[in-house]
Amino acid sequence: MGHEVVPAAVDLLRFLEPEFELVPVEIGYGKWKRVGTAMDDDDLELIGGCDCVFFGAITTPPDPEYKSVLLRLRKEFDLYANIRPYQYSGVHISQYRPVRPFSFTIVRENTEGLYSGIEEITGERATTMRVLTRKGCERIARVACKIAKQEKAEITVVHKANVLKSDIFFKNIAAQTAAQHNIPCSEAYVDAMAYHLILHPERYRVIVTTNLFGDILSDLAASLIGGLGMCPSANLGDEYGLFEPVHGSAPDIAGRGIANPIGAVLSAKMMLEWLGRYKSAALLRRAVGHVIQKRVLTPDIGGKMSTTAVASAMLKYIEEQLC
Ligand code: NAI
Ligand code: MG
Repeated sequence: MGHEVVPAAVDLLRFLEPEFELVPVEIGYGKWKRVGTAMDDDDLELIGGCDCVFFGAITTPPDPEYKSVLLRLRKEFDLYANIRPYQYSGVHISQYRPVRPFSFTIVRENTEGLYSGIEEITGERATTMRVLTRKGCERIARVACKIAKQEKAEITVVHKANVLKSDIFFKNIAAQTAAQHNIPCSEAYVDAMAYHLILHPERYRVIVTTNLFGDILSDLAASLIGGLGMCPSANLGDEYGLFEPVHGSAPDIAGRGIANPIGAVLSAKMMLEWLGRYKSAALLRRAVGHVIQKRVLTPDIGGKMSTTAVASAMLKYIEEQLC
């Protein structure tokens, strides 16, 4: 479905930033079927030569030897911070009806924890090692503090330190980092957090957590704002950024022209902000608000429109704003 939502967002990017050089790189399932590898070293070199990546979801090939392209990109460019913002302005579009408007960001550590890749299955036993490093904990906490400072908010450190020693380590380092940056800091157990996020999401502003907990909480959070099709993300390192909608390749609806492009468009907005193109980013944000207000929406969020119809309505709105 990357083939449907990425072009929708790229059309808007081309219009807003005509001087950008867009370098298409095909990686993923189609390439794997054709040549037996989803991404080769030439692709990596091409990607590394660009300033950042705009990524469309890809299907995981059914091959036990397959190494995830996304995990490789995250490792290769040390994209340690996964930033996932969730906003509900009060205009209702999902089955779930939040009581009050809210706006919070999940800051998920993206390179270690249970996704460190140190694991084995031997006979009757399977083990996966959960590795947290001081460097990893400090730098993700710093990113959360930076966002909290911009938003004049506190950070909430989410963990399971009542059971996991590694989370005592994480929680303490996150709290120390917050104290060093003068950012107010609270904490919550991950299971309680899942409960509280549904009941009163407006209580939270910046949630910082480890890899697997962030992965799970961010899908839960998606259900609060209309579903996975609505959710953008940034994968950031110190030098490089990869921007992608949170959703996967949605094989159940791919190819039907009804994919929600909003997650991809908001990911493009995050990319523009990262590149310092704030005016274009703000226009994309308002274009999304416009189609929601006018209910020019795809079926996943209660509309009847196609991907291209939603994208065209956004483009028209932006054109009107600029003339
Ligand atoms: P998914 O996110 O593709 O789909 C989950 C549900 O959300 C489906 O019912 C789908 O129709 C719906 N949905 C997702 N995006 C939507 C959109 N833009 N508009 C409307 N509805 C949307 O997750 P699933 O089914 O678990 O994974 C499918 C494939 O995607 C798998 O091969 C998985 O490995 C891969 N995947 C890839 C990711 C990536 O490349 N970043 C991330 C997550 C999954
Ligand atoms: Mg996930």
